[in-house]
Amino acid sequence: MIIAVDGPAGSGKSTISKLLAKELGLVYLDTGAMYRLFTLKMLKENISFSDSDKINELLENLNINIENDRFYLDEKDVSEEIRKSEVSENVSEVSAIKEVREEMINLQRKFSSSKDVILDGRDIGTVVFPNADIKIFLVADPKERAERRYKEVIGKGGKASFQEIYESIVNRDRLDTVREISPLKKAEDGIEVDTTGKTIEEVKNMILSIYKTKSNIC
Ligand code: DC
Repeated sequence: MIIAVDGPAGSGKSTISKLLAKELGLVYLDTGAMYRLFTLKMLKENISFSDSDKINELLENLNINIENDRFYLDEKDVSEEIRKSEVSENVSEVSAIKEVREEMINLQRKFSSSKDVILDGRDIGTVVFPNADIKIFLVADPKERAERRYKEVIGKGGKASFQEIYESIVNRDRLDTVREISPLKKAEDGIEVDTTGKTIEEVKNMILSIYKTKSNIC
């Protein structure tokens, strides 16, 4: 069983995917975090985004790990670091690099082999698993997505500017949608779920009902 959950930044993909994983007994993979881990590595090593040789070398020796909702780079827990604005501001550019996408897609397929998995990202239903059993495309009004991120940061005791978060989300949407390789888009057979004005519980139940309908058909 493969469930693909794609959609723009802040549409609720990871929150919903985690809940569904628990409810349906699936393994969850946050593919955005993989691109964030690699972006952090590029920034730490100070590698130019156009230096293919160095990028390939980094990819060959990449040491990333995801365990119990914690994210590791070179054995170090960087779960908080990968959410910081420096990574968020660069991850769209890094994730548009062909070699990076190829390697991440390989890793995502390897991770998912012989498991029941729910993956969230941008290209899961279109490129990584075009034959996924269920493909959800989550969308929400950009202002509401920014509001959710803002509340999340403030809720964790951090500092944030709503306007900056909003602009960063809109900018990332644009970069992720216009990029040449596997851009963010709904799969032809994807089901769009608009989460604007809905609670997490409501969205979860909407997807569960899609899951039940699909499971009865299959
Ligand atoms: O889901 P997120 O916001 O943590 O993702 C970070 C970035 O990674 C996002 O702006 C685009 C990229 N990404 C991607 O290109 N393909 C994926 N499957 C997941 C994320």
